[in-house]
Amino acid sequence: MNKIGLFLFLLPSIFLAQETKQTTEWFADAKLGIFIHWGMYAVDGTSESWAFHNKSVSYPTYMSQMKRFSAEHYQPEQWAALIKASGAKYCVITTKHHDGLALYNTQLKTPQASKQQNWNPKYPFSTSHQTPARQDLIAPFYSALRKEDIKIGAYYSLLDWSSNDYPAFLKDSSRYQIKDDPARWERFLTFMHGQIAEIATNYNPDLYWFDGDWEHSETEWEAAKIDSIIKAKNPNAILNGRLKSFGDYDTPEQNMPIIHPDRNTWELCLTSNDNWGYRPQDRNFKSHFELLSIFTECLGMGGNLLLDIGPKADGTIPDEQVAILKEFGRWTQKNASAIYGTTAGLPAGHYHGNSTLSKDSLQLNLFVPSPQNMELSTAKGVMTIYLKGIKSKTTHVKLLGSEDIIPIKEVGKISWSYVPGTYFIEIPIAAMDPMISVLQLQFAEPLQLYRGKGGFH
Ligand code: GLC
Repeated sequence: MNKIGLFLFLLPSIFLAQETKQTTEWFADAKLGIFIHWGMYAVDGTSESWAFHNKSVSYPTYMSQMKRFSAEHYQPEQWAALIKASGAKYCVITTKHHDGLALYNTQLKTPQASKQQNWNPKYPFSTSHQTPARQDLIAPFYSALRKEDIKIGAYYSLLDWSSNDYPAFLKDSSRYQIKDDPARWERFLTFMHGQIAEIATNYNPDLYWFDGDWEHSETEWEAAKIDSIIKAKNPNAILNGRLKSFGDYDTPEQNMPIIHPDRNTWELCLTSNDNWGYRPQDRNFKSHFELLSIFTECLGMGGNLLLDIGPKADGTIPDEQVAILKEFGRWTQKNASAIYGTTAGLPAGHYHGNSTLSKDSLQLNLFVPSPQNMELSTAKGVMTIYLKGIKSKTTHVKLLGSEDIIPIKEVGKISWSYVPGTYFIEIPIAAMDPMISVLQLQFAEPLQLYRGKGGFH
């Protein structure tokens, strides 16, 4: 290739690299986002949408929650202030989950199966029309976030298990197959694309967080059209990786990646207990130390953390989650220069821990877990370490020279995924060697490691 040929060959890729960088830069620098799952499921504390899909409650029982979704104590400015105080730079809220109830003011009506009376079909299936909340819950929140200078993100479920034009319904029953009734699928696409256009027009989000993509292919969703609807309104909008190849960044879910996700930019979405939405019976909150440790893991690998909270049906945020956001605020404020706008730290082998690097490489930040951390040493007399990507089950763990039983807590494990969670191990300080202790993990099989990119991969 001659010089001109080489120039022409390189030009598009240089151009592309710059373009990608410009639009995703604020996102890559933001590091912390807050995810909010809010919907009718908070009323009885059922699992978000999955409760009826997986048949743990009947569809009418699930839908009956709608009539009690009051949002009576909802104070969007307070939510925004709390999110601001956490140090998050963006916030993603469910505008519509898989159950199909829009939390924003959609004008489009969701077709209901004949003989069903789960919502009033004369009106759109939204909180404004079908719940005692009687309002667009998204609009005031987005304006409050804008006032706090926080970027706004719209979670939107591509699939809609309530629409009579959508093929899938319960886990073992579908309404139809696309190939048998393409016109019905077209009707669904017109509705779904229309809702995305409404969200773009009404709120012009900085970021779109699609979900539910797994039920259809990129061609079936007409992902290119979705991308163009959004880009026509906002060419700089960022799309998560669940709009298939149109995504700007990868979204491993719950499990920390061990190796770098495919796309340069990525975000771990993580529940603060075991559920996305509010479920009062779920008391399995991750400790502040565990959450901050996972956050430093993301930072060390150049990624973001999208930390989820699930407000109650009355619009209040559970105390435990308020406390988590406040603790993130304390920590991020103090350590801001090691967090925002940094890049991934040292590669493995240099420092036994996480680190970040300033963009000009003039500052190296080493994260050093403190034995004094909140819920450890002073109160419990333990020091916590953690280990990722261990697939083999341990039969026991011991501290050499001590008889103490050392418990392991597996954090972020999803019951139906083969990806292991992160092991947090509490070592009793009193039993530790004054110099260097040895923790010995015994396995039932030769050690198997998970070497994936997080999420379900
Ligand atoms: C999964 C679940 C969904 C949840 C999402 C958050 O895709 O289907 O319920 O909202 O994860 O990442």
